[in-house]
Amino acid sequence: MIRTVAVVGAGTMGNGIAHVFAQNNFEVNLVDVNAMQIGKALQTIAKNFDRQISKGAVREEQKKEALANISTFTGLREGVQDADLVIEAATENTALKLKIFRELDDSAPGSAILASNTSSISITKIASVTRRAEKVVGMHFMNPVPVMKLVEVINGFATDPSVTHTVVELSKLLGKVPCVVNDYPGFIANKILMPMINEAISSLYEGIAGVEEIDTIMKLGMAHPMGPLQLADFIGLDVCLSILNVLREGFGNPKYAPCPLLVNMVTAGRLGVKTGEGFYTYTPGSKELVVSGRFLK
Ligand SMILES: NC(=O)c1ccc[n+]([C@@H]2O[C@H](COP(=O)([O-])OP(=O)(O)OC[C@H]3O[C@@H](n4cnc5c(N)ncnc54)[C@H](O)[C@@H]3O)[C@@H](O)[C@H]2O)c1
Repeated sequence: MIRTVAVVGAGTMGNGIAHVFAQNNFEVNLVDVNAMQIGKALQTIAKNFDRQISKGAVREEQKKEALANISTFTGLREGVQDADLVIEAATENTALKLKIFRELDDSAPGSAILASNTSSISITKIASVTRRAEKVVGMHFMNPVPVMKLVEVINGFATDPSVTHTVVELSKLLGKVPCVVNDYPGFIANKILMPMINEAISSLYEGIAGVEEIDTIMKLGMAHPMGPLQLADFIGLDVCLSILNVLREGFGNPKYAPCPLLVNMVTAGRLGVKTGEGFYTYTPGSKELVVSGRFLK
């Protein structure tokens, strides 16, 4: 039975994951090496609860109870020693994740399930550095976690079916919709999404259409809530590039080769929303979608 959930990494995804577990009455240990990130995460969680309260989805009482369910830690060992489930949501870097999983294996109870929220790193590889590969699984939440319904549950090569089952039932308990997939590069979400984004960037690069036209066609023609170029800005162009490289290397197939325009934009530091410019420019406080001057005809 899962009662205490340790969330390792208190960034964008970690704070959202902590939010939904705390809201559903789990004890949450939120762990980050950076104390400032923990402070920021608690503020974000409170702000997101306020938004839910203003929409009438949550009562003030529930916010208080949820926040009281969260304990914070800067030390991994202390943060995971009583956990039934650990969800790692630290920076997307293979060496870092392998190091964290070695430490988790040493510090978390032997019975604990170790999950990773990685977008692209092999669960089988992560599991291989532990002595409990059968208890290692992927739990890929989507951003923003309190809003997005999907949890892509990833079976590593050695994951025990009972572990997958536990994680599936747990996701349902959080009000999410779990979908189980097998561990291959990009899983399903990114194996399909990233080539679409890459194709949109290639179409811009080849001069077939402009930023606004590409995004409008996909929004109005395919009923996507956001065009692929805007979505790429939102995800971060550096993240898109790194996932495309994982797909190309993992499948050994040049069809995943990132468009040279994407490579150039990342090299030039135009990473999308987080740097204020990608295919669009972003002004703090403004919701207006303005195409970057670079791509105006
Ligand atoms: N951002 C997204 O849209 C998204 C969506 C799905 C999955 N993911 C995945 O979720 C994970 C986290 O992404 P993010 O966007 O929240 O990143 P982020 O950069 O916002 O946060 C990462 C956090 O990890 C912390 N961290 C680094 N090393 C650590 C360590 N050794 N121990 C504890 N904490 C450590 C950092 O201080 C930081 O607060 C990544 O694997 C990413 O691929 C991200």
